[in-house]
Amino acid sequence: MSQVNVAALLSICLAVAACSKADGSVNVRQPPAPAGAPPVGPAAPLPRPLTAAAQVGKELFFDKGLSASGEMACATCHDPAHAYGPTNDLAVQLGGPRGTSPGLRAVPSLRYKEFTPGYRDTQDNPDGFSVPGPGGGFAWDGRADSLAEQAQAPLTSPFEMANTDAADVVARLRRSSSAAAFARAFGADALADVTVAYDKLRQALQAFQIEDPSFHPYNSKYDLHLYRRPGGELTPAEERGLKVFKDEKTGNCSGCHLADASQDDGAPPELTDYSFEAIGVPRNPQIPANRKRTHVDLGLCGPLRTDHGQFKEDCGLFKTPTLRNIAVRRAFFHNGVMHSLEQAVRFYNTRDTRPELWYPTVGGRAKAKPDPDFPTYGLVTAQYVGGKVQKYDDLPAPHHKNLDTQLPLDGRAAGSKAPMTEQQLNDLICFLRTLTDADVVAANVPSAALSCGQ
Ligand code: HEC
Ligand code: HEC
Repeated sequence: MSQVNVAALLSICLAVAACSKADGSVNVRQPPAPAGAPPVGPAAPLPRPLTAAAQVGKELFFDKGLSASGEMACATCHDPAHAYGPTNDLAVQLGGPRGTSPGLRAVPSLRYKEFTPGYRDTQDNPDGFSVPGPGGGFAWDGRADSLAEQAQAPLTSPFEMANTDAADVVARLRRSSSAAAFARAFGADALADVTVAYDKLRQALQAFQIEDPSFHPYNSKYDLHLYRRPGGELTPAEERGLKVFKDEKTGNCSGCHLADASQDDGAPPELTDYSFEAIGVPRNPQIPANRKRTHVDLGLCGPLRTDHGQFKEDCGLFKTPTLRNIAVRRAFFHNGVMHSLEQAVRFYNTRDTRPELWYPTVGGRAKAKPDPDFPTYGLVTAQYVGGKVQKYDDLPAPHHKNLDTQLPLDGRAAGSKAPMTEQQLNDLICFLRTLTDADVVAANVPSAALSCGQ
């Protein structure tokens, strides 16, 4: 976070209960109220005007003129109405000069990135027992250290905004509808010099994402619950789901997706510890690049990230994402292979006990009609007799030793009992839905049959 504007971060601190500053020190505001105390929460944030840089950043974020196709802005993939995530259920989006080139990874939401630390090979793990390991950074492989650095990737990616280089970006900027605002904020000289203009452009995009309250509203039901504010009372099902989420013997989700307010300063949890883990997500045949057997996305050790290829212990590791607004996503994990929250959660529960539901079977014979009790929630809906399940089919065998072994993915034998019961899964999904921000709740959550009351 070296390039983050501290004043801007402090303005976020007004909006949330408390928060860490860019230098890692802590700015204490109001800690969460102890149990039983009357509800107190962060004071309503004072409306703060965006700095000039952030105002320009806002224009740039929505400016399609910055792309080679003239059809694509940051907001095309990162839509504000979808928590700055994608609007559709595609595993990867189409971009490039004609809007026809498929990407390689699922689009993350851009909400709640403001405290993402820069990437480190040895980040301390807050769980108290894991040894320090890779953590932090932006993108699924942490290869950018700041939001400003990250912006370079989409601007010049051949399957995103498809500029050839910085000069190409700046040439488009000069012709774009944002040019006048850019010159007013940074001076006409800034626009004349490619290096300066490219730098300011990325700083402006970062300033917008840091300063604008729409990137970190902290107003989900779970936030209201944590700070004991009106509307934060969990239903019995949500309450039980929260227990499963935290229970080290069943869900254990909070082992990586941290769910408690900070003990130091009461800051709200980001639902991630920013650590990198290999969890053996199945290969996604919907990604065109995957038609080539030789194309394997190994996350931290490449090929998109190029500085860790020699560290074989890093192969298959991806960044733990936040689970805020997870209920409104429609493509899950780094390769978007799953398409519902239920499927993602069931993967955690039965990856090991029923691997045939998640990974292809080679050899054997598919029954013409699966048995009536054969589950239909997995990625594989055909029921095989004989054959061999290709477990971890997107991670070459030499890297299987990198897989994390924490519950619920502890590598237990096929056919053994799953870590969570049906009731616990149901409750867990109910809890995960409380992580949806107030503005996206109304707009997007489908009315699923799931009952989250009692
Ligand atoms: C064609 C779709 C597309 C467009 C357009 C796009 N992005 Fe992204 N964005 C992605 C994908 C895919 C990733 C994940 C990349 C990866 O892991 O390699 C991503 C990742 C990010 C991240 C990292 C988030 C995280 O969780 O670490 C940031 C920040 C970001 N984009 C900002 C931007 C900005 C700013 C723009 C405009 C300059 C932009 N994006 C344009 C698809 C897009
Ligand atoms: C060992 C750490 C760890 C534990 C424990 C863990 N997760 Fe994750 N989670 C990850 C990582 C790493 C990813 C990204 C993996 C990938 O895409 O390859 C992820 C991704 C996800 C996603 C997809 C997010 C997205 O934006 O696409 C969901 C949903 C999720 N986890 C839910 C859970 C739930 C529910 C639990 C508990 C049952 C849980 N996780 C337990 C590390 C963990």
